[in-house]
Amino acid sequence: MSDLFAPCTLGNLPLRNRICRSATNDYMGNPDGTVSPAQMNLYRELAEQEVGLIITGHACVSPDGRNDANQNAMYDDRFIAGQKTLTDAVHAAGGCIVQQLSHAGGKSPQAVTGRVPVAPSTLEYVPGVPARELTIEEMHRIQDDFASAAVRAKQAGYDGVQIHCAHGYLLSEFIDPTWNVRTDAYGSDRFRMARETLEKVRAAVGPDYPVLLKVHSNCQGEASDFLAALTEFLNICADLGVVAAEVSGFDFASQPPEARRYYLQGAEELAAKTRLPIILVGGLRDREDMQAALDAGMALASASRLFICQPDFVSRIKRGGMSACRGCYGCFRCYQTTGKRCVLHR
Ligand SMILES: Cc1cc2nc3c(=O)[nH]c(=O)nc-3n(C[C@H](O)[C@H](O)[C@H](O)COP(=O)(O)O)c2cc1C
Repeated sequence: MSDLFAPCTLGNLPLRNRICRSATNDYMGNPDGTVSPAQMNLYRELAEQEVGLIITGHACVSPDGRNDANQNAMYDDRFIAGQKTLTDAVHAAGGCIVQQLSHAGGKSPQAVTGRVPVAPSTLEYVPGVPARELTIEEMHRIQDDFASAAVRAKQAGYDGVQIHCAHGYLLSEFIDPTWNVRTDAYGSDRFRMARETLEKVRAAVGPDYPVLLKVHSNCQGEASDFLAALTEFLNICADLGVVAAEVSGFDFASQPPEARRYYLQGAEELAAKTRLPIILVGGLRDREDMQAALDAGMALASASRLFICQPDFVSRIKRGGMSACRGCYGCFRCYQTTGKRCVLHR
């Protein structure tokens, strides 16, 4: 039985404990894509509060894949210096930090990017907003963008990168049969776009740099063979030297407040059938949930909202305390409307 609080390694990453702060967009970056003082404070605090592995909110790899006006960007060398200040602060506090990289695909708002969203197919990824189908040339350019962004993350001092293949962003749109109705090789092999992206990232960052992945254990459309196909894909990722896969689900944001351990069953199956360490995220609300995830074979237990509510969650539960998070998902919108990150903050 793994101890939640014992030091461990994930691939070649030494961690203080097995608790991960899952990628969480804070909507607090500067409008030019650089790191803001508020973000510096946020990540420094997470490191000071003993989080084992910190994964940043998703940073966009291309201007056309931006998610919101305050998202950090990694599509140019000018972003490296500010990011380096952030990783230096985290390391000075003894933390380990991985940057999540994404392209928001059919969900990239035109009001932010100035362009019609691009996606695997000409469908409405956001109701009422048809996306434009990507050409193969454009897809190869986006794969190169992921690779260049990963190199910048490495130069900025990140301990690794996590490639975002979940939550309806571009790479997961390719994987889900509902959102990928292409008739070419990227439709017949839905994992091809993500696989080629990882191959290019690996080639760009070198053989030893930690590369992680975030995926869904379920999919929106009818696909009885989804978990089997995902298992095969994760084993290919293991061959590419991917360090671990964090397992979420496409429907995480519609889970009711009382729901727990949403994706444990799928993640357990993946942990048993793949050669890749699996990190579970979704509805782990307290120390018992996290320990249950480890007992089921997970390498780490990961959470997002608990840390928005109380960045000191790790030290709090170590002392026998509880989380105050209500699981309401109010945090998705309240920063823009109230300037607070959690409905419980004063
Ligand atoms: C405000 C907010 C922002 C999020 N931003 C990201 C993100 O940038 N990347 C990502 O992969 N998931 C993101 N998520 C999803 C979380 O990482 C996590 O998968 C989900 O909230 C379920 O975990 P939880 O039950 O511990 O909150 C976000 C969640 C919230 C509430």
